[in-house]
Amino acid sequence: MKIVCRCEDISEEDIVKAIDEYGCETLAELKQLLRLGMGHCQGRTCLILAAKILARKTGKSIQEIMPSFRPPVVPVDIGLIGGENEE
Ligand code: FES
Repeated sequence: MKIVCRCEDISEEDIVKAIDEYGCETLAELKQLLRLGMGHCQGRTCLILAAKILARKTGKSIQEIMPSFRPPVVPVDIGLIGGENEE
């Protein structure tokens, strides 16, 4: 069993089942059904893996499934955003 989302303990098999049996065609539908990407890391690693599985199963491109990333993609110190470290 290949784990795709470690935070929510979701396997590739769970995602394939959601696509085949429940007709999921988008990441939003996988999130609603499985809680994919809703764990501690907020999908930093699992969303792209799930997008690749969706692309393979549906024949869509990765860009169709995942058109943009929402910044920030990496953790950013809140003081940096607020300009605390400016000189
Ligand atoms: S690995 Fe999926 S939310 Fe963290």
